[in-house]
Amino acid sequence: MAFLQTAVLLLLSAISAWGRAPPGPWDAFNYAPKSKTVYPTAIHSFQGSVKDPQLLVLNAGSATITTRGSWIALDYGVEVGGLISMNFEAVTSTSAISLSFTESPSFIRPTASDDSSFPSASTTYDGVLRVPAPLAEGFWIQPSSALRGGFRFLTIVSDSDAPVTISNVSCAISFMPHVTDLRAYSGYFQATDPVFHDPDFLTKVWYAGAYTVQTNTVPLNTGRKVPFAPAGTWANNATLGVAGPIIVDGAKRDRAVWPGDMGIAVPAQFVSTNDLVPTRNALSTMFAAINPKTGALPESGPPLSQLGSDTYHAWTLIGTHNYYLFSGDTAWLQQVWTNYTRAVAFLEGKVDGTGLINITGLRDWARLGGGGYNAEGNALLYKVLTTATDLAKYLNNTALSSAWSKNATALKEKFNEAFWLESAGMYRDNQTTTLCPQDANSFAILYNLTTSETQANRVSEGLQKNWNDLGPVAPELPDTISPFIGGFELQAHFKSGNDARALDLLRRTWGYMLYTNLSVQSTLLEGFTANGSLSYRSYRGYNYDAAYTSHAHGWSAGPTPALTFYVLGLTVTSLQGKTWSLAPHVNGGLPGAEGGFETPLGWFGVNWILPDGVEGTLSLNVTTPEASSGFFRVPKGMSGMLVVDGVSKGFVEADDEISLQGGSRSLVVQPSG
Ligand SMILES: *[C@@H]1O[C@H](CO)[C@@H](O)[C@H](O)[C@H]1NC(C)=O
Ligand SMILES: *[C@@H]1O[C@H](CO)[C@@H](O)[C@H](O)[C@H]1NC(C)=O
Ligand SMILES: *[C@@H]1O[C@H](CO)[C@@H](O)[C@H](O)[C@H]1NC(C)=O
Ligand SMILES: *[C@@H]1O[C@H](CO)[C@@H](O)[C@H](O)[C@H]1NC(C)=O
Ligand SMILES: *[C@@H]1O[C@H](CO)[C@@H](O)[C@H](O)[C@H]1NC(C)=O
Ligand SMILES: *[C@@H]1O[C@H](CO)[C@@H](O)[C@H](O)[C@H]1NC(C)=O
Ligand SMILES: *[C@@H]1O[C@H](CO)[C@@H](O)[C@H](O)[C@H]1NC(C)=O
Ligand SMILES: *[C@@H]1O[C@H](CO)[C@@H](O)[C@H](O)[C@H]1NC(C)=O
Ligand SMILES: *[C@@H]1O[C@H](CO)[C@@H](O)[C@H](O)[C@H]1NC(C)=O
Ligand SMILES: *[C@@H]1O[C@H](CO)[C@@H](O)[C@H](O)[C@H]1NC(C)=O
Ligand SMILES: *[C@@H]1O[C@H](CO)[C@@H](O)[C@H](O)[C@H]1NC(C)=O
Repeated sequence: MAFLQTAVLLLLSAISAWGRAPPGPWDAFNYAPKSKTVYPTAIHSFQGSVKDPQLLVLNAGSATITTRGSWIALDYGVEVGGLISMNFEAVTSTSAISLSFTESPSFIRPTASDDSSFPSASTTYDGVLRVPAPLAEGFWIQPSSALRGGFRFLTIVSDSDAPVTISNVSCAISFMPHVTDLRAYSGYFQATDPVFHDPDFLTKVWYAGAYTVQTNTVPLNTGRKVPFAPAGTWANNATLGVAGPIIVDGAKRDRAVWPGDMGIAVPAQFVSTNDLVPTRNALSTMFAAINPKTGALPESGPPLSQLGSDTYHAWTLIGTHNYYLFSGDTAWLQQVWTNYTRAVAFLEGKVDGTGLINITGLRDWARLGGGGYNAEGNALLYKVLTTATDLAKYLNNTALSSAWSKNATALKEKFNEAFWLESAGMYRDNQTTTLCPQDANSFAILYNLTTSETQANRVSEGLQKNWNDLGPVAPELPDTISPFIGGFELQAHFKSGNDARALDLLRRTWGYMLYTNLSVQSTLLEGFTANGSLSYRSYRGYNYDAAYTSHAHGWSAGPTPALTFYVLGLTVTSLQGKTWSLAPHVNGGLPGAEGGFETPLGWFGVNWILPDGVEGTLSLNVTTPEASSGFFRVPKGMSGMLVVDGVSKGFVEADDEISLQGGSRSLVVQPSG
């Protein structure tokens, strides 16, 4: 027994030794706070009869607010979320305050928070948290049901003409409840951008995506209340699923499980923190809620438990493959397998004599159109079938695997027949329109529905035609830039070999989000309008309430996995990275990149430099677990002598694949002549 315990302890310490990326200059760009108790880092502004407001910064002393309506707006420096506490140093019997919270500085107001309970054109649905008289001298903490899950600015307002003196204003971070050191990432990334106004942009955006997902990883009992809290209030004490911690869509809202969002957020989580238990809990929650009669999965987790989305149903199934590939959690896969296969059959049951799925569960990521024989729905079914093929293979169910594979192949052919619009060089939304949507065209490249490189290139070019200065305006949701679908488009440009176009998109859309003073400059916006305003989805469910938009939405974290999987070029191709692919995308003009991630098998790291561009020499070091193997794909535009660990492997050219064993390898591709 003692021996067993020692062995377990040794094993645990070995795992935790892997659990942290190497320290380096990239750590300066990690947005996660150093402590789980955070203090304001600045005074944004104040008004009225206020004494020593600046002493509230980093808990330097006490401040006094004297007259009704006077206020101090505190800035936490980055997006945070959790319970506020403070000390009332001196109060009278009638002293009273209220607190208002906001992510965007545009909604710093003494009278209302930004909105999270419900979208209202007034922008003031949530109201303020009142702390009425009499206040007791000493320590005060916000009631837990009034938790604010995401904000950067806190405004403290006097609600009476009696003075109140406060100190020790802090926030106890509530997200990542299972982790002590929020900055202990398992992965990292660094690259210098030679053209953008901020050379550290790519590194920063990688960390912004990672931190965004952390702010979306929450305790089980902190979901948004449904039915929504009455006007003037909010409540975040609903139960979110079968177990916690759990990954939700946004820090401020909706604070519910949304499987579509996880299609981006989970790969970001994998490469940055490898903290996949919250993902397993979210997926388990969806499978537990399957309709026992039909096999339909809900669109969202409880308490919202939205029903009626064939695409989000597909995302739970695609997410199951992501989780299994990264974690290798076979016991869990076997547990959900019966419900998983029923859920695949649910979608397959909607495929009719045309060979296409007729999408009848119409809810989706907010796009218009979408029903019937719709290209996006069919592309997602294709991804479901190819990933189902893979999962059945892992479980040694070869008959089911080949049946799904056969159906995938047939669907790919029908997809190209039904939706390809030669005149546009893109896929149309359905057979009665010429609208070529951003979602289906991005998925078509990414999920290999295209049938040639030329075709994929035409789609990539076509997608670019939707861009303005801030990125792609989605044809299927006019006036909207969706960093969610943009995250798939970003990968699609890389996947089709258009690295410079991908980086251009990254700089436009994420360059806007990360630096605009409308947002929080640390986590990533849910979406915005074509002109950059916060009125995302105003006409599409959000009731013209720009204060409702979330500023920390994991579905916008696409650059984090894209920089790792494409720019570094390292991806896992089988469970936990037992096999991997090393295909750095070096055609975007970057002089180099480095970073890595971990899986239960160990560390996966890459460092490459290309000081003279693709005409010059590529030097690359890669480290993968000894017990793994993979291949190196020669980047587009390159050819020459390949040297591995000092040994010449002869002449190679673009797209050649060279097998490599795990361990540490050094590679040089030296142009000939
Ligand atoms: C953002 O910056 C612009 C230009 O400097 C300024 O006019 C605007 O008031 C700022 N907005 C906020 C919300 O701080
Ligand atoms: C949530 O908090 C509200 C307000 O404090 C309370 O009335 C309600 O019972 C709580 N709900 C749950 C599920 O705990
Ligand atoms: C200050 O606030 C912290 C919580 O952030 C609390 O633990 C501490 O006790 C407070 N200090 C005093 C003197 O009450
Ligand atoms: C599978 O679905 C049934 C309903 O048909 C449900 O009762 C059960 O909990 C689900 N199992 C898992 C592991 O989610
Ligand atoms: C076809 O797509 C267009 C554009 O998205 C949409 O307006 C239309 O409603 C769709 N038609 C059907 C039958 O769904
Ligand atoms: C799709 O299915 C619905 C519901 O069964 C049906 O009303 C509709 O006509 C079907 N659409 C097509 C294009 O067959
Ligand atoms: C599938 O079969 C292989 C080879 O027999 C075996 O190693 C593996 O454990 C099996 N997988 C499962 C999930 O049973
Ligand atoms: C494959 O497609 C056919 C025709 O739509 C369908 O009858 C069958 O159930 C599908 N197979 C699987 C395993 O989903
Ligand atoms: C993508 O599709 C083509 C045929 O259209 C096929 O040859 C190729 O193997 C597919 N790639 C992958 C990774 O499945
Ligand atoms: C930006 O777009 C929104 C939504 O279309 C519109 O309401 C707003 O007036 C526009 N702002 C500017 C400055 O043009
Ligand atoms: C690769 O490793 C070697 C040996 O440590 C080192 O000299 C070289 O600079 C490294 N190259 C890159 C691109 O990191």
